[in-house]
Amino acid sequence: MSTIVTVNTNPYEGQKPGTSGLRKKVKVFLQENYTENFIQSILDANKDVIVGSTLVVGGDGRYLVKEVVDKIIKISAGNGVARLLVGQNGILSTPAVSHIIRKYKTLGGIVLTASHNPGGINNDFGIKFNCSNGGPAPDGTTNEIYKLSTAIKQYKIVPDIKCDIDTIGVQRFMVGDNEFVVEIIDSVKDYVEYMKEIFDFPKIKALLQGSEQREPFKILIDAMNGVTGPYVRRIFVQELGAAERCARRAEPLPDFGGAHPDPNLTYAADLVAAVRAGDYDFGAAFDGDGDRNMIIGRGAFFVTPSDSLALLASQLQHIPYFQRTGVRGFARSMPTAAAVDRVAADLGKEMFQVPTGWKYFGNLMDAGRLSLCGEESFGTGSDHVREKDGLWAALAWLSVLAATGQSVEGLLVAHWRKYGRNYFTRYDYEECPSDPCNEMMQELEKKITEPGFVGSKHSSGDKTYVVAEADNFSYMDPVDRSVAMKQGLRIVFEDGSRIVFRLSGTGSSGATVRLYIDSYEDKDVLGDAQMKLKPLIELALELSQLQKYTGRDAPTVIT
Ligand code: G6P
Ligand code: ZN
Repeated sequence: MSTIVTVNTNPYEGQKPGTSGLRKKVKVFLQENYTENFIQSILDANKDVIVGSTLVVGGDGRYLVKEVVDKIIKISAGNGVARLLVGQNGILSTPAVSHIIRKYKTLGGIVLTASHNPGGINNDFGIKFNCSNGGPAPDGTTNEIYKLSTAIKQYKIVPDIKCDIDTIGVQRFMVGDNEFVVEIIDSVKDYVEYMKEIFDFPKIKALLQGSEQREPFKILIDAMNGVTGPYVRRIFVQELGAAERCARRAEPLPDFGGAHPDPNLTYAADLVAAVRAGDYDFGAAFDGDGDRNMIIGRGAFFVTPSDSLALLASQLQHIPYFQRTGVRGFARSMPTAAAVDRVAADLGKEMFQVPTGWKYFGNLMDAGRLSLCGEESFGTGSDHVREKDGLWAALAWLSVLAATGQSVEGLLVAHWRKYGRNYFTRYDYEECPSDPCNEMMQELEKKITEPGFVGSKHSSGDKTYVVAEADNFSYMDPVDRSVAMKQGLRIVFEDGSRIVFRLSGTGSSGATVRLYIDSYEDKDVLGDAQMKLKPLIELALELSQLQKYTGRDAPTVIT
């Protein structure tokens, strides 16, 4: 029998979850009791329901995941949790956690990831709490966790529990008079079974294998040494019959092999080059924890996440899941280009625009008003779980490709011809000094909310734009009526073009400025986005005085 030990501790400053959980450098989490404090604060935020509860625990395989899983086991035991479902070796993708919480109706889950941020001892770690709906905790809960972390005095732990997390099976412990159960589960099984219900696997398999009439459809899938490796192997190789070599970087590594596990044109440049040079019809990459995706076609034809969302919205009828559930509304985050809005209008579906952060979609899904949503930050997903889901997005695309027999580029060009095209780009200025960035945002907000700014004319290149609307975006959740303020500066012009500025909420040091540009063309749909958007980019840089405040004359990443 093991006993609970109460340990005295002192609060740490700054344990405030950002857009997606608490993210800091590994060395911050290694400080004495830092991690223990935060875990205890999560459990305390659930104190009325924690005793006797079940939680899911898993992470993306990055440095520190296993150690922190061990701490969660011991602290959960100390707080009366009855049962933990833990991914084998501590591995669970973020969408898999969401599914497992929902499938087994648990109180929630703890996800150990810093998503697409680099891993390893000198890089990032993160802890995120998801609620019983499978989604990231809403602001009310994360604020409560933070508040508790600022006043914590003790945590409760059962130090002598020894749990082997590498072997599938049930382990039972006695804590005082109560049984505490840790079940080590297959990291991929539940998730893969679910994907087989959602999609028509035999149909996708037939596409990949080809027939007498049709060449095999060749794919290249890059797991970026993140958590999706085992999922990619099981789904694409074992279930769908793709060759082993179609799965790149399919081994989860604690430092992601030194790479930045973010699926975009900059950080997944290897995949882009391989697809461009090789004989491939389709390429996809996923981030560290498996919720983000990038889709490219033959010749590395790039699908922007905003277009990916719109295209899928127009083609959901090919996916068995939606044939069963029907299609409810669509949603996107505010900075995401408005391409999907046109599909929603065409199909007569409800359309929502929420702040950046997947947590804002959850209530709409729970209320049965939202089927498909996405973000410009390479997130796409549906109400099958309450996280965005990279593998799901790739399977959704393959379903559409199988059903239509078209190429990625062919599908998208036809889409643009029908709906027009929202040219989109995002400029990121990473790890800038915080104070000048905050000042820049304050000054810009002042400027764009001054009387007279709406209606003002701005010329750039050979274009003149008239401001139709300008604000700091705020959102009232239509379901619970909670309000999120100051979610990004937005300048909307009369022709529907938009300039948006935000400070990232996911960085672990300094400030990252994001500039988003969206401009609609109804006929001229085959142009180059960077060329098309140049006048708006220049206007944005001038209005914000970005160079003066950040000292940067070029972005770190362009997508
Ligand atoms: C995470 C969240 C997303 C969000 C993204 C961008 O991936 O899950 O929902 O869009 O971060 O956040 P940031 O605040 O860095 O722009
Ligand atoms: Zn992620």
